[in-house]
Amino acid sequence: MPAKRTIVITGASDGIGAVAARALADPDIQLILVGRSADKIAAVAADTGGIGLTADFASLDQVRELADQIAGHAGAVDVLLNNAGGTFEPEPRTADDHEPNFQINHLAGFLLTNLLRERLAAAGDGALVLNTASAGNLFGRVDLSDLDWERRRAFQSRCYGTSKLMNIMFTRGIAERWADDGIVSAAVHPGLVASQFGRDSAAVGLIYRTPLSKVAAITPEKGAEPLIALAQRGADPDVNGVYFSRFRAGGRENRQAHDPALIDGLWEASDRLVGLG
Ligand SMILES: NC(=O)c1ccc[n+]([C@@H]2O[C@H](COP(=O)([O-])OP(=O)(O)OC[C@H]3O[C@@H](n4cnc5c(N)ncnc54)[C@H](OP(=O)(O)O)[C@@H]3O)[C@@H](O)[C@H]2O)c1
Repeated sequence: MPAKRTIVITGASDGIGAVAARALADPDIQLILVGRSADKIAAVAADTGGIGLTADFASLDQVRELADQIAGHAGAVDVLLNNAGGTFEPEPRTADDHEPNFQINHLAGFLLTNLLRERLAAAGDGALVLNTASAGNLFGRVDLSDLDWERRRAFQSRCYGTSKLMNIMFTRGIAERWADDGIVSAAVHPGLVASQFGRDSAAVGLIYRTPLSKVAAITPEKGAEPLIALAQRGADPDVNGVYFSRFRAGGRENRQAHDPALIDGLWEASDRLVGLG
């Protein structure tokens, strides 16, 4: 009997991640679902027959424990959907003393993915790392000498946009570095989604709860569609390094997302900050 494919989804307890988990549930797939809240992830795990794990990405130690737990459940990971995230107030700092958008949206996923590299490389038909980015990348600016917003003023929208820009740059870093292991990576903007997004920020939460935003926004079911389609497509070399705006390859990107020196510099700095390099 062929081994089951394994799909790992972070941010699977709510919003588009939970919709994707329910849509991808299948007897031939081992689903490993990650959330911050134990009760919420237990409910999605029960609905899908998946394994529910918890980690707060504001703690890198919890991400390390999570990687060990995933490795304990799966000899190979076919798809890793790095979807956990949100928009956070720049203060207070995380347990690891980082700006929260930088850590929760970028560093934590960077660490988890690196810790799972062997498991990804072990996937029989290649593996896909899919990163949920955002059109907000256009408002970002990566400054390698100030990744933690200590010199610049930390406006929340810029911190968020920068972290989502980093998701695209990380995607390109994987595409460059891990192709020989059969690991491909893509990034996707799901659209403006009426999810729980913004709940960790007073200002953004308010915007997301206005009647106008409800009219402009799509449902989590719609928002999850491109994630589901890409996860089902799997390790297709044609998607390697591609940023999708929903289904459209080549979404609008910040100029920095194409800068090879910056992509490398971000990778090396992230490596050092999470203690890998
Ligand atoms: N909504 C939009 O308009 C929009 C647009 C572009 C991109 N995105 C991106 O889409 C992704 C999913 O967002 P969503 O709209 O589905 O929002 P959501 O409903 O708020 O879901 C966010 C998910 O991320 C998890 N999460 C949040 N903070 C976490 C932390 N500190 N540690 C671990 N997990 C954490 C949540 O876990 P708990 O439920 O357990 O707290 C939840 O499962 C995010 O990366 C977001 O940046 C969203």
